[in-house]
Amino acid sequence: MMQLPGLIDPHVHLREPGAIHKEDYDSGTSAALAGGVTLVLAMPNTKPPIFDAQTLDLALDSAKAKARCDYAQFLGAGPDNSDWASHPSLPGRSAGLKMYLDSTFGQLRLDDMSLWMPHFQQWPKSLPIVAHSESRSMAAAILFAAIYERPVHIAHISLKEEVLLIKAAKERGIHVTCEVCPHHLFLTKDDIPAISHGHPGRGEVRPRLATQVDVDALWANLDVIDCFATDHAPHTIAEKDSDNPPPGFPGLETILPLLLTAVDAGRLTLDDVLTRMVTNPRRIFNLPEQPETWVEVDENAAYEIKASESFTRCGWTPFEGWKVKGRVRKVVLRGQTAFEDGKIVVDAGYGKNIRG
Ligand code: DOR
Ligand code: ZN
Repeated sequence: MMQLPGLIDPHVHLREPGAIHKEDYDSGTSAALAGGVTLVLAMPNTKPPIFDAQTLDLALDSAKAKARCDYAQFLGAGPDNSDWASHPSLPGRSAGLKMYLDSTFGQLRLDDMSLWMPHFQQWPKSLPIVAHSESRSMAAAILFAAIYERPVHIAHISLKEEVLLIKAAKERGIHVTCEVCPHHLFLTKDDIPAISHGHPGRGEVRPRLATQVDVDALWANLDVIDCFATDHAPHTIAEKDSDNPPPGFPGLETILPLLLTAVDAGRLTLDDVLTRMVTNPRRIFNLPEQPETWVEVDENAAYEIKASESFTRCGWTPFEGWKVKGRVRKVVLRGQTAFEDGKIVVDAGYGKNIRG
């Protein structure tokens, strides 16, 4: 048995408010614990989106009643809510500011760069800005980090050109950090037929699955990658198989076994995983340590990933049937056993808002 610190996932979609048939703070934080994750940062592209004090309170009230692991909630950047200077206490109550600079799921989107500027000017430098920005818009986000002299964290990079540009930006002292999701490390677009089981919508995700050249470049430049994050984006199997499939993959329950299997295969070290799932996210997102918190993992337990055994409400996984090694047996969160032998044993509401 191996003991790890509680893992941090800085990028999850918990669908509350507005789409709790996909997930809510209860099911999503249960999935987190089952995956060895004790702290999640929740994205704001809900219905309504989380973009001001009122909507932040709406999400935090649900979280307070339902969360089983610790959490913080992002605010979303919109066209009309950039006057953060007039609401000085609001940013500090959030995980950070999420800016959608590309096409995504939901209503938060900033097409025009003049809409980015006041957010970069006014959002406090001590709190992160996270950018959903792909390819050339990512280059623009890095330029904004340089112009406004502030840190920017690039969500879910997936392309060779992206990891190479971030490397070059870091070498020049620009304050940019980034995360990669397991699906962009372990899958390419050639895997879409196998994921789809005849339903091509299951392969839809933003950023899209990329090529083997891109995946190889991510692995070859792991030192450029600051965090591993799931972008846990649950949509029900019926929605994924419909005529208008929403993009997104669940990931909270599969990230650790997938990475530990890669450790077992010698593709990276356990230390590489912990740096990217504990130390770096804690620093980048300014997160407190969780005292008396650990995860017990049977590193020799080999098993098959099955959606039917998961806590997420979405009912499917792109990794169905994958053989992995390393199973979470027990999670202790702030002195209390929260997950043991496949069961959640902590009450809804035990989870703490780390910005509260
Ligand atoms: O695949 C994705 N799903 N990409 C996004 O940008 C949003 C996310 C979601 O919320 O479903
Ligand atoms: Zn996301």
